[in-house]
Amino acid sequence: MTLIVSILGFMMDPGSWHTKRTLFSGMLNPLYLPQLAFRTPLAMVLAGALGLPAVARLAPPERRAEAVRAVCRWLLVWAPLCLLGAWWYARSVPVEMAKNLPVALLTQGLAAWSRRALEVAAIAVGAILVVALWGAFSRRRLWLAVGLAPAVLCVWLVGHFERVREFIRKPYAINGYLFANGVRKDDYPILRRDGILAHTAYEVALPPSGDDRRDLGAEVFLAACSRCHTTDGINGMRGLLAAMYGERAPWDETAIAAYVQGLHNVRPYMPAFPGSDDERHALARFLASLRTDPTPLPGAQTAGIRPSHHAPRAAATLSALP
Ligand code: HEC
Repeated sequence: MTLIVSILGFMMDPGSWHTKRTLFSGMLNPLYLPQLAFRTPLAMVLAGALGLPAVARLAPPERRAEAVRAVCRWLLVWAPLCLLGAWWYARSVPVEMAKNLPVALLTQGLAAWSRRALEVAAIAVGAILVVALWGAFSRRRLWLAVGLAPAVLCVWLVGHFERVREFIRKPYAINGYLFANGVRKDDYPILRRDGILAHTAYEVALPPSGDDRRDLGAEVFLAACSRCHTTDGINGMRGLLAAMYGERAPWDETAIAAYVQGLHNVRPYMPAFPGSDDERHALARFLASLRTDPTPLPGAQTAGIRPSHHAPRAAATLSALP
């Protein structure tokens, strides 16, 4: 944990590493200690929560009550420390990332419900504490279903926390250094000038559709958007665009190109578009075509790749295409 916490903290806020660029300035980032102070007692709470149903069922009958009591007291010691650590950690998260919380907790569409989600999480924490209090101090036997509750709730809470932590860092993979689309912040000016296709390591060997500009747009989509979007699967573009522009009316290429230009302002969890203007318009052509063309876009795994030396040529011809 002392290692992974350092890496996770670094990704959220590299702190003085931005200027010092040394191993230790990166490892001992501003989130390192708060996160360690949260995750250490969290691991203890998890051990107690998962241990509770185990001892309630498996401890020798004559010692079972004593074992349950001991595990519940363990939970009561670590849970408050875990909450304290959580408070310190939450306070240390960079402000601009905390703004992602409503979307991170649920989805864009359900962001309005995010307060509810926090309330539900608080109720879950309360329920764990109530079970621990019952097990630690009540003389009545703990029902097995109740003893299982902390384990189920803890696994759900931790799972959801990890999802939120991963999302909240967007648009970055490493705050201020590397965007979640795999592009370094400092490389943006070059990609804007030359186009992203001129610098990708490979091109996906997509079957041609007869419209070269659209096909290059598909390549741009794969290079710039597919870390987070598919066409038809998770976070699928067809569904998102249908929600924005309607399923029937034709999708206006110019409007889409304009949207892509301001992507990062409208939805700050997305990185700015990393390519040239020509590429942005090609991408818009591809996205607009999704309304009428039902074929899903294959990834590199299925379509295969072309060596990268084709890519600059593709980018160079882009501006000459109709
Ligand atoms: C870092 C991940 C990430 C990248 C990279 C990314 N997006 Fe998104 N995008 C998201 C998420 C998350 C959503 C919100 C989905 C939801 O919860 O409904 C979204 C939503 C959208 C929407 C719908 C916006 C709305 O207002 O409803 C569009 C359109 C979109 N993305 C286009 C793009 C395009 C085009 C690219 C590539 C140039 C791109 N995105 C790159 C993560 C990303």
